[in-house]
Amino acid sequence: MKTIEIRSQEKKIYDICIDNSYEHLVEKLKEIGTVGRKICIVTDSNVAPLYLKDVANLCCQASAKVVHFVFEAGEANKNLTVIEKIYEKLILEKFDRKDFIIALGGGVTGDMSGYTAATYLRGIKYIQVPTTLLSQVDSSIGGKTGVDFQQYKNMVGAFHQPALVYMNLNTLKTLDDRQLCAGMAEVIKHGLIKNASYYRWIQDNAEKILTRDYDSLEHMVYESCLVKGDVVERDPKELGERALLNFGHTAGHAVEKLKNFEWLHGECVALGSVVAAAVSRDKGRITEADFEDIKETFNAFHLPVNVSGLAAGDILETTKSDKKMDGCKVKFILLKAVGEAYIDKEVSDEEITKGIGACI
Ligand SMILES: NC(=O)c1ccc[n+]([C@@H]2O[C@H](COP(=O)([O-])OP(=O)(O)OC[C@H]3O[C@@H](n4cnc5c(N)ncnc54)[C@H](O)[C@@H]3O)[C@@H](O)[C@H]2O)c1
Ligand SMILES: [Zn+2]
Repeated sequence: MKTIEIRSQEKKIYDICIDNSYEHLVEKLKEIGTVGRKICIVTDSNVAPLYLKDVANLCCQASAKVVHFVFEAGEANKNLTVIEKIYEKLILEKFDRKDFIIALGGGVTGDMSGYTAATYLRGIKYIQVPTTLLSQVDSSIGGKTGVDFQQYKNMVGAFHQPALVYMNLNTLKTLDDRQLCAGMAEVIKHGLIKNASYYRWIQDNAEKILTRDYDSLEHMVYESCLVKGDVVERDPKELGERALLNFGHTAGHAVEKLKNFEWLHGECVALGSVVAAAVSRDKGRITEADFEDIKETFNAFHLPVNVSGLAAGDILETTKSDKKMDGCKVKFILLKAVGEAYIDKEVSDEEITKGIGACI
């Protein structure tokens, strides 16, 4: 098992454990104080038949009582109606402030469980047990929790740090190829914004990653968790550097909305990254060869680098209505070089339109 410590003001706040089974889960739960407490495992209808029984049995060895809440899988259920049902379950099971929630599943499960934990009795502890690549390298780390409200994505939420993140990478074996590749968009992003040699490693190991070679997955998830962990440790509430993680998300969110959420988040991030790379190229920050190379990298993981049926003007307007604006300026994350991102608040509409033009 590999472990990364996330710290705040010299003190550990939680461990990220990367393992090939759930073998050490019991001892890690005991370490954070679950003994004698209740645990509610929140999971979705796809993950429950695969992993709930095993994880619940292990939780029984480290707690007084284990209950579970299963919701219908899918982003459409990441809403306040489902959260109310989780509150109800916790109340009926008499959960108090010292009890725990475990999020067993992908980012949807993690965001909802985290939000429930942040708000139930003004905050209880929760544990992330992520089972998708996206949730392992991204959403389970950093304490952003929340739900969608009406058509607005992640509109209601809270920062609430987990007490533990524990991932069993063998759960990736049951994940379908499209979901695995969607997670790769965030992985490639980590290399592009922070670590050029990691980015090159991803390119060189595409085949092994796609065939889910365990050692390659382990190295990759570890490196990505280091990038994400480092950034959120320095800037937990997104007052500065954490915004760099939004590389590819500015135009990406616009495409997600305009495609009515039919494309997976990672697929939209791939496209948004191509737009951001094009703007970086047009500003003379990266070369044409770098730009082409970035497109090829997303392509190698079957991620889209072109979109049809959308107008540049609509993508621009939707980009500008994104909640990640700073006042009325779009906060664009661009590349200074491959492996180094920066925040640019001075990107003009013309520059964005030209960047969008590179992929429609
Ligand atoms: N909080 C954050 O910082 C943050 C960051 C990025 C994304 N997100 C959120 O994460 C969500 C996307 O996460 P996601 O891509 O994990 O989606 P998801 O949770 O919907 O999981 C994708 C699909 O895979 C299934 N699944 C999960 N694990 C599986 C496994 N091991 N085997 C087989 N099937 C499995 C799920 O049931 C679901 O159908 C979005 O709601 C997004 O807003 C949050
Ligand atoms: Zn993302």
